[in-house]
Amino acid sequence: MKKSAQRTWGGRFSTGPAEAVKKFTESVSFDWRLYKHDIAGSIAHAKGLVKVGILTKAEAGKIVRGLRAIEKKIEAGTFEWNPDAEDVHMNIEAALGPVGRKLHTARSRNDQVATDLRLWVRDARVQAVHACRALMRALVTLAEKNRDVVIPGYTHLQRAQPVLLAHHLLAYVEMLHRDAQRFIINADLESPLGSGAIAGSTLRLDRQFVARELMFASPTQNSMDAVANRDFVLGYLFAAAMAGMHLSRLAEDLILWSSAEFGFVRIGDAYTTGSSLMPQKKNPDICELVRGKTGRLYGNLIAVLTTMKGLPLTYNRDMQEDKEPLFDSADTLLASLRVLADMLRDVKVNKARCEAAAGDPLLLATDLVDFLVKKGVPFREAHHKVGALVAESEKTGLALPRVASKKYGPAAARVFHVRRALAARKAIGAPSPQNVTAQIARWKRLLN
Ligand code: ARG
Repeated sequence: MKKSAQRTWGGRFSTGPAEAVKKFTESVSFDWRLYKHDIAGSIAHAKGLVKVGILTKAEAGKIVRGLRAIEKKIEAGTFEWNPDAEDVHMNIEAALGPVGRKLHTARSRNDQVATDLRLWVRDARVQAVHACRALMRALVTLAEKNRDVVIPGYTHLQRAQPVLLAHHLLAYVEMLHRDAQRFIINADLESPLGSGAIAGSTLRLDRQFVARELMFASPTQNSMDAVANRDFVLGYLFAAAMAGMHLSRLAEDLILWSSAEFGFVRIGDAYTTGSSLMPQKKNPDICELVRGKTGRLYGNLIAVLTTMKGLPLTYNRDMQEDKEPLFDSADTLLASLRVLADMLRDVKVNKARCEAAAGDPLLLATDLVDFLVKKGVPFREAHHKVGALVAESEKTGLALPRVASKKYGPAAARVFHVRRALAARKAIGAPSPQNVTAQIARWKRLLN
């Protein structure tokens, strides 16, 4: 059976692709999401073609109006995507009809998709930065609301030293700040349009003009790199994976803190789920899902890195496989950032439980070491001496402050005062209430 030849590139073919092949190769089912950027790219390209005399103003006007109408239809959900037209680029061009016959002059889908994707990633980066900042704000608000709550800080998940809960929360603000920076730094500022399939065009083009129209800083300088490059996709995927790692740690802290064992926080009912079997359960599924979704964010990065590995220059169809991981990471990341921010606004801190845990005198064993150091005892020796007191306290069941005061007098027992101990931690970055208050103010300023 003779199938009708493919409309866009079918000139040299006697038959169109087999049905199974169409299904296997089509990408419009997911790359339709590039439509806005495809249309923006086409409009800039059409205006560029006017500049060099390939299109008349009237022809370009028709194209632009046609593209705008298509955009409206897509947005209204009335546009009919046709899988036979393979991808978003050809769907839109086909819908443009005869007025669009000159639009593809000096352009290939290779530079077109490279441009669309860069524009898409540019928007995704902005959204990621906004969502990071919203979560940072939620963390700062929770920190401020509970600014004098003390909790044990942990290393090896063993109680280590007292810190302000706010200090712990602000640690995540630092991470998210780096994440936001990473989304900004990976900005890709060059326009590939005009690179054609691989070697530019014999037609005169105004690439500077087109680049400016699309708000790129300049055109790319090597046509082969321009169509072969997906670094900006990987830059985004890496930034998303890193952010996901941070979110999973925040999620894990919240899971621990909301357990009966810790009891530091209570997550609002709207952000927890019940058990179908055990009526008493209130599970932190949101946090668990955020933690779990980090797997996807890593997977998507590795998937595209692997797809790109060893590809000969320049464009290869393998590269069509960049989109689903990219879209999935963007969706996953935004959803995780947003749901965590919403959830944090509905988290209540149990001050009594926090303070009870932070009141464990063992958390100030290091402060007793410092007490001895101030008396001139070398640190290593002081550490050893206090270690022996801890062992004695464990053996006798006498609290550490009592054991310390028996050995070194009442001044040693006065070390075991959590607020005083915190106030003494004044070095830059340490959790004295004064420092933490200043940090809260700094972040509020930066996040305004
Ligand atoms: N759908 C393709 C992709 O996403 C567009 C570029 C196709 N170019 C080509 N020469 N087949 O990669």
